[in-house]
Amino acid sequence: MSYNLLKGKRGIITGALDANSIAWKVAEKVHEEGGVFVLTNAPIAMRMGEIKVLAAKTGSEIIPADATSVDELTNLFTKSQEILGGKIDFVLHSIGMSVNIRKNIPYPELNYDFFQKGIDISALSLHKMLQVAMKMDAINEWGSVVALTYMASQRVLPFYTDMADIKAMLESIARNFGYYYGTKKKVRINTVSQSPTKTTAGNGIKGFGDFYDYTDAIAPLGNASAEDCANFCVALFSDLTRMVTMQNLFHDGGYSSTGVSTEVLNKLGAE
Ligand SMILES: NC(=O)c1ccc[n+]([C@@H]2O[C@H](COP(=O)([O-])OP(=O)(O)OC[C@H]3O[C@@H](n4cnc5c(N)ncnc54)[C@H](O)[C@@H]3O)[C@@H](O)[C@H]2O)c1
Repeated sequence: MSYNLLKGKRGIITGALDANSIAWKVAEKVHEEGGVFVLTNAPIAMRMGEIKVLAAKTGSEIIPADATSVDELTNLFTKSQEILGGKIDFVLHSIGMSVNIRKNIPYPELNYDFFQKGIDISALSLHKMLQVAMKMDAINEWGSVVALTYMASQRVLPFYTDMADIKAMLESIARNFGYYYGTKKKVRINTVSQSPTKTTAGNGIKGFGDFYDYTDAIAPLGNASAEDCANFCVALFSDLTRMVTMQNLFHDGGYSSTGVSTEVLNKLGAE
């Protein structure tokens, strides 16, 4: 059901790699709710070409941009405003990559070149996007920026290795930039801490399937799906959440507030 919550709003959506991507679902929901947007991803991700399907479905244009490049981000914000016909109202940061995770390197043995690459792609990219947007005055007052994160930033989940530290940094950037952008232009910046979700990034983590089942059994509502995450992002982009900023918002079916569930205790053989 559509409520036209984003009618008249223009945005930039990063990170739609394929139909499983959280950003893909966000793009579909934003389209349903009347928002218009530009899709972007790293040039290397374009090779798969799947993003073109999403662009055709949502009537959107694609602007390739490596999120680590200030020049490419400047081009992204410049062209997006030209294409959409005005300043930007919402931005989705849905970008994550860790070579250490891909190569299965445990936390105490992290490779520092890979670590720095992960920081640049997955956390500093948010700062770079916001710095570019602020310098260009590219985001309208009461605009909303959402970045996706994961709760390993706050509690140890061993398989998440360097991304745990990187997500902590991402959440901190959202909070700190939220202060400056809020004071200057009333732009809102939040992170959404999403449940484990079966995407390319998620499935790339060793042991992800078992962990997915574990959190599903702990969370009173079960794991939140990518579609539910997309609905939450729409709410955060809309005017209904105008006074929400600098928050890390858990979207995880209650997992983060639950110690253990009866279901898990029963599986462990509790009486
Ligand atoms: N899947 C999960 O379990 C889960 C849970 C919580 C948070 N998240 C976060 O959600 C976000 C989206 O991930 P996803 O699960 O949809 O997986 P995904 O693999 O579909 O998306 C990750 C995206 O990052 C893009 N990317 C990588 N390097 C880039 C670069 N240099 N420049 C621009 N884009 C680049 C990829 O091309 C891809 O589209 C990530 O920040 C991820 O950490 C995922």
